[in-house]
Amino acid sequence: MKRKVNITEVVLRDANQSQIATRMPRSDFEDILETMDQAGYYSMEVWGGATFDSCLRYLDEDPWERLRFIRSKVKNTKLQMLLRGQNILGYRHYSDDTVRAFVRKSVENGIDIIRIFDALNDPLNMETAIDECLKAGGHAQGTICYTISPIHTFESYVQLGMKLESMGCNSICIKDMAGIMSPQVCYDLVKELKKDVRIPVYVHSHSTTGLASMTLLKAIEAGADGVDTAISIFSGGTSHPPTESMVYTLHEMDYDTGVDLKVCQKINDHFKPVQARFLKEGGLNPSVLTTKIDALNYQIPGGMLSNLISQLTAVNKLDQLDAVLEETPRVREDMGYPPLVTPMSQMVGAQAVTNVLTGTRYKSISKEVKAYCRGEYGHSPAPISEELMKKALGDEKPFEGRYDDTIEPEIPAAREYLGKMAESEEDVLSYVAFPQQAEAYFKSREEKRALKVSYSITEAE
Ligand code: CO
Repeated sequence: MKRKVNITEVVLRDANQSQIATRMPRSDFEDILETMDQAGYYSMEVWGGATFDSCLRYLDEDPWERLRFIRSKVKNTKLQMLLRGQNILGYRHYSDDTVRAFVRKSVENGIDIIRIFDALNDPLNMETAIDECLKAGGHAQGTICYTISPIHTFESYVQLGMKLESMGCNSICIKDMAGIMSPQVCYDLVKELKKDVRIPVYVHSHSTTGLASMTLLKAIEAGADGVDTAISIFSGGTSHPPTESMVYTLHEMDYDTGVDLKVCQKINDHFKPVQARFLKEGGLNPSVLTTKIDALNYQIPGGMLSNLISQLTAVNKLDQLDAVLEETPRVREDMGYPPLVTPMSQMVGAQAVTNVLTGTRYKSISKEVKAYCRGEYGHSPAPISEELMKKALGDEKPFEGRYDDTIEPEIPAAREYLGKMAESEEDVLSYVAFPQQAEAYFKSREEKRALKVSYSITEAE
């Protein structure tokens, strides 16, 4: 019998985020959802990550309403979201009551699978979300963020995989956000995981360095249960391997994906003019479409490299780039080798720039790095260097336990503040996650309604 390989289509979330900064409005995909539901995907990643923030901040859309709409059109295929553990969809640690309410409401509004990750791979930062997802009847997918460092051994990843399984996760995802996992490493890692972990293993990568299609294929050969791909017009570059090519290859190799290439063609035809419009209007920078191997040379994600370049350019110090590229791995080592993913990539990069520009290491330390040293982001993968600890905290002692236990519940105060402005529990959560953006959205919603009323009065006359 052919072995089943699950395909997760990510055009509406990660491809949208990676290529066009999550600016795709609902009107660009609402007409194709029913067709997408017929494609035979295992799941569609449609929500979470930056979509929530972007809906409120740029698209004047209610993110919850977007999710409910997608659910109303996609009746058979599982809907999936990405959640940053205790950071939910934001950039700081939220209280447990916020995390629980957010997860519960995500499932209630239509999400089936929640992929839960933490930038530090700290299980304590994922446990509340995993627990609540399971209680709400969702599928909890625990995540291993892949990174390269002396302490991120296969053994450490397998340990984390077993831990996630013991926490009740229904599956595991190996998340290669920088696209630096090579095909051979992926093959070996999946094989190792499969020896000790019984739940399904999924692999997620980005095409940035050109490795991802090969990496995913090797993952499947090693026994991975599913992979993430993007419909071809929104694939490649900082996005993902193309769905159709992956399905074509797998079918030829006698795997069963369940995906119908004829339906994929209709989906691709739908998104072609969408992509063309973003390209024409500048929302899609052609440089994200090319293959860049810098990340392999420097072992830092492509997005982080361009951030370093723009930081240095802004202060007219681009000649210091080499020094910064040498300093970056040293800062990362001092910080205990955090994976270079948001928000760690920004913290490590900015500190390296500061160290080089001031000429003295840790003469100035950002408040984020100080908070990290204090334990406010969870546990660092390896101990933080004594030098950095001393310079960041002086005599102050870092947290021993779980920092999140010290965060006061956030929802009651938000509910009280919003009063009638919040029309639902979802509104309260939008506000807790992104106060300014949510409030601006509530006001615009009110204005639009007022406008509608005055229109209908005019019509009646
Ligand atoms: Co991704």
